Amino acid sequence: MRRIALINQKGGVGKTTTAVNLGAAMAAAGRRVVVVDLDPQGNLTLHLGHELQPEEPSTYGVLIGRDRFAEAIRATGTEGFSLVGTTIDLSGVELELASALGRETLLRDALDEWRRGGQAEGAEPADYVLFDCPPSLGLLSINALTAANEIYLTVQTEFFALQGMSKLLELVELVQRRLHRSLRVSGIVACLYDSRLRLAREVLGELRRHFPEQVFRQAIGTNVKLAESPSFGQTIFQYAPESAGARDYRALAAEVLAQEETPGAAAPLETVTLRPAASAEAAPAESTAPEPG
Ligand SMILES: Nc1ncnc2c1ncn2[C@@H]1O[C@H](COP(=O)(O)OP(=O)(O)OP(=O)(O)O)[C@@H](O)[C@H]1O
Ligand SMILES: [Mg+2]
Repeated sequence: MRRIALINQKGGVGKTTTAVNLGAAMAAAGRRVVVVDLDPQGNLTLHLGHELQPEEPSTYGVLIGRDRFAEAIRATGTEGFSLVGTTIDLSGVELELASALGRETLLRDALDEWRRGGQAEGAEPADYVLFDCPPSLGLLSINALTAANEIYLTVQTEFFALQGMSKLLELVELVQRRLHRSLRVSGIVACLYDSRLRLAREVLGELRRHFPEQVFRQAIGTNVKLAESPSFGQTIFQYAPESAGARDYRALAAEVLAQEETPGAAAPLETVTLRPAASAEAAPAESTAPEPG
C-alpha cells in the first residue's frame, strides 16, 4: 500500500486539488484510494461534498483516539475513492495533544491498526492513501509524514516557488532521522502552471534542474474548471471530464501508477541531494511579464 503525503507549508499551491483529482483519477484506473483530510479548514472534505458533524468519525477523532481509522472512512461519489474527512475541531488538536506521549505517530498507529485488520482478511485494505496536509509544518503535517512512506511536494510555478523549500526539506530530513528512516520524496507536482508565462516556464525549468528525478513530466495547468468544481462538491471527472484539468490529472495519475513498476526509481533522501542549491533559494531574476502573444 502506497501512502503519500501531499505537503507544502505554503497555502494555495494545489495540495487539496491534487488530493481530490489525482486520487479520483487513480480510482478510475482501478486502484482503491483513500484520501485523508489533515487540514482543519476541511477543504478536502467539502470538495468531496461532505460536511461532518462534530460527533461523526473524523481525522480529529482518529488523532485523539476516539475513532478507529476504519470507521472514519466514508464513500464518495466515485467508486473506489473514499474519504476520511475532518471537522474544524482539528484546529485545536495541536494544543490538545501537546503533552500526549508519541503524538507524532498517532496517525501511523491508527493506520497500522486498520492495515492489520485488512491483512487479517487476506489483503491490504487499500492501494493508496493520500494525506492532504495543512499549510503549516506543525503536528498535523508531522503525523502525515510519519504515517506516509512517500512525499509529493506540490509547488506553484510562481516567483516564490522555491522559497521555503529548504525549511520543508529540513523537516523531512528530521522526521527521517528521528522517526521514519525509509521516508522519501518521490514526486514533485507543478501546479497552477501557466505555460504562456515565461516566469512559470523558468520556475518549472529550475525545479527540473534541481530535482530531476522527482518532478513529474505532467504539470497541472491553470484551469478554471478545477477552481469551480469544489463548490459543486465534485471531482474534475464528475464536473468537467473533458476539461484540460481532467486531462492533466489523468496524465499525472498515469505517471504515479508507472512508479509502481519501478519502486527503486525514487531514491531515498540519503542518496539524493534534495536541498536546492543556494542560488535556487532566490527566485529567478528574469522578468515576470507574460510573453507577447
Ligand atoms: N490547476 C488549477 N487551476 C485553477 N485553479 C486551481 C488549480 N489548482 C488549484 N486551484 C484553485 O486554487 C486554490 C488553491 O488550491 P488548493 O486548495 O488545492 O491549494 P492548497 O495547497 O490545498 O491550499 P491550502 O494550503 O490553503 O490548503 C483553490 O481555490 C483551487 O480551486
Ligand atoms: Mg488544502
